[in-house]
Amino acid sequence: MSANITIDRITGSIGAVIGGVDLCNPLPGETVETLHQGILDHGVIFFRDQDITMEQYWRFMENFGQPHKEESTGTDDDGPEDVQTGDLSFTRYATAVWHADTTSLAQPPIATALRAVEVPPFGGDTCWLNTTAAWDALDEPMKKMLDGLTAVHSIQDTVERMAEYAGAFFEGYSSRNEFEQVHPVVLTHPETGRKSLYVSECFTTRIVELDKLASQAVLGYLFKHTQRPDFSMRWKWAQNDMCIWDNRSTQHFAVPDYESSRQMQRVVIAGVKPGEYSELKPVSKARAA
Ligand SMILES: [Fe+2]
Repeated sequence: MSANITIDRITGSIGAVIGGVDLCNPLPGETVETLHQGILDHGVIFFRDQDITMEQYWRFMENFGQPHKEESTGTDDDGPEDVQTGDLSFTRYATAVWHADTTSLAQPPIATALRAVEVPPFGGDTCWLNTTAAWDALDEPMKKMLDGLTAVHSIQDTVERMAEYAGAFFEGYSSRNEFEQVHPVVLTHPETGRKSLYVSECFTTRIVELDKLASQAVLGYLFKHTQRPDFSMRWKWAQNDMCIWDNRSTQHFAVPDYESSRQMQRVVIAGVKPGEYSELKPVSKARAA
């Protein structure tokens, strides 16, 4: 591990606070590898006091893959100038359901980062949970039944929760993406080799191989099981806090218990079809140049 870097775990299942790293400057390879391992080990890692520019944020993200401004309309040609500092309060009910980001897409992002620019005086926390821990804690007969099944992930409920902002969002989303996708219920993490549950209350609507009633019952059980507090953590944001999470092995929930502005900067790392190989690794030098 790089000298001077500290890693303080948050709960027994997920999350760590990283100290001794200044994201204003390009990071040495050894530090990037320490952070990469931190993401794999802890699911989500946090940094405090990162008063960085969007350009610096973007260069940091290039240590882990191809950054996109967001997942449904982003491209490899995106740059830091394409990222909006967004007031997430307007769509806060859309993300107040446990989810991995945008699994209704054919290629959901493999990682997402958030930086807090302006936070409400109270409320607006974000919670994360570890879907590998959730898998590990299932009974063996349940694991046997689930492994190999597939499930439908749909954007429909999320769009409906956006209320008056749904139209604009869906116009961008539907310009390039299908309404729903089918993904494995159980995902083997391509980097750690560990299995995780890849169904979420936000996006997963049914298990393809089960009839409707069985699918509802099994998904209801899996959502309740996965959302156990002992698989999760909760983060109270301060200005200039930043985090990056593994979207292949975690879910998150943005608590909508605030009224004032909540300004965040969000960047994702381009993904692959779940089940195919992916790796958090620096974008090619040619692209970064
Ligand atoms: Fe999200």
